[in-house]
Amino acid sequence: MNDLNTPTRIYTLELGPMENFVYIIEDTQSKRAAVVDPAWEPTAILDLAKQQGLAITDILLTHSHHDHINAVDNILFEFDAEMHLTHAEAEFWGHAGSHPSLHHGGDRLSLGDTEIEILHTPGHTPGSACYKVHDQLITGDTMFVFGCGRCDMAGGDPNQMFDTLNKIKNELPATTEILPGHNYAVKETVTMREQIEGNPFMHFDEQRDFVNFRMKRHGQVRQSPYDAVTKTCAHEWLHG
Ligand SMILES: [Fe+2]
Repeated sequence: MNDLNTPTRIYTLELGPMENFVYIIEDTQSKRAAVVDPAWEPTAILDLAKQQGLAITDILLTHSHHDHINAVDNILFEFDAEMHLTHAEAEFWGHAGSHPSLHHGGDRLSLGDTEIEILHTPGHTPGSACYKVHDQLITGDTMFVFGCGRCDMAGGDPNQMFDTLNKIKNELPATTEILPGHNYAVKETVTMREQIEGNPFMHFDEQRDFVNFRMKRHGQVRQSPYDAVTKTCAHEWLHG
């Protein structure tokens, strides 16, 4: 999925009992690396960095749930890395480590020659973030392949999630590759075009329908692994 001639390479690790995806973004020229949501198996993350000769200079958090952050301290023990998250998530979490770098949506980070854009994408948590690297979008629990994150836990808001998913759909190219926070679907990645065609959470034009589907019907009608769903099927599920 990554051309070796491009300035950036992204490694995917599937770790832990909840099928979390941990991504390591490598700036190929400088050998700097950013780890997104370090969790579960710090040895696997650190071994990969060591094998590839990478210096982990940055940690990017999509959000503060335990299953996305439980190896942060292990990484910081080995590398003097800067940790990035949104202002809103730090406020929600009530904690942000010792030297955090807090961001607003639209901020950009430089990892050597690699530019990373931060999108503030509330809905799963108030300060959830997605990270855009070239034509790839690391989405955490905001968007899964043919799914989206729960909105019924503390800080979750299905109305915000509706706005967030519409914004992502309208503002990013259809060729954008989605790299989700969990392996909950029949395949690991998907393009935005495939999401628009097959993600049931993108099939509701009315906010109240989306909210009803997210908060009630989805849990009753659907099981993982998630596969593509037509608009007709999503509406039958909603009203069934
Ligand atoms: Fe989460």
